[in-house]
Amino acid sequence: MTIQNSKLKIPSKIIVANWKMNPASPKEADMLLKRIWINKDKKLANLEVIIAPPFIYLEPLLLKAKSLRLKAEFGAQDCFWENQGAYTGEISSLMLKNLGAEYVIVGHSERRSYLKETDEIIAKKIKIVFENKLTPVLCVGETAEQRVKGAQKNVVQEQLNKDLREIKNLKNRNLVVAYEPVWAIGTGNYCQPEEALEMIKFIKEILNLNFSQLSGEKNIKVLYGGSVDSKNISSYIKYQDIDGVLVGGASIKINEFRKIIDEVFKAAEIKSAKK
Ligand code: PGA
Repeated sequence: MTIQNSKLKIPSKIIVANWKMNPASPKEADMLLKRIWINKDKKLANLEVIIAPPFIYLEPLLLKAKSLRLKAEFGAQDCFWENQGAYTGEISSLMLKNLGAEYVIVGHSERRSYLKETDEIIAKKIKIVFENKLTPVLCVGETAEQRVKGAQKNVVQEQLNKDLREIKNLKNRNLVVAYEPVWAIGTGNYCQPEEALEMIKFIKEILNLNFSQLSGEKNIKVLYGGSVDSKNISSYIKYQDIDGVLVGGASIKINEFRKIIDEVFKAAEIKSAKK
């Protein structure tokens, strides 16, 4: 099968909805998607909403979104580092590509800790995701202990260097990085927006340094993730350098998530008006 090129320009603001291991039934997944109802008529040209459900819901939701003409992209929460073969229980990025997904979350801290995913594994996943012309959403971030020691920038820099080491060139590639401090995930203890901004600028500097072709490209986005909700969203998204958010818990609470979409939509509009 020939692999189509992913679109090369990502809209100015993006929201990734990481449903994690939720909901418990296909019926509920279907309801959730329908109630998010990202209306195609709304001019969302500057905003991309990416739904990342559990693997088994991807195909029915993709088909449903198509039939309802919803303006949403789909992503997986993980993938394996080979395309096919004797890897019981695994799902490949080639399968995801052939299904119509556009994005794959790679290196989420829950996988790094519960599944013992190392930077070596993550680097292999990033490589194959790129080869299959999907866009990785690479998650990086420090633990509470590392932050107490003031090591957050070193930790993030090391993760980026290791996780992207197979990537020689970012030209004509899409890359999304999510800064997700581990201590902020699912705790309600969100990172202060100014601190998130500082780290996001730092990540962009590293990417610029490591991939000189990057300068001026519109195909790299850096998001914040960790206890984002309808109350704190505007304090992140008002910053031009914060290209969007990765939302976990609040993405499966319909009213919360719709408010988040509205806020990010407003910010994307303002950004495009300033151009
Ligand atoms: P949270 O999760 O929004 O529930 O903190 C974010 C994430 O894990 O990606």
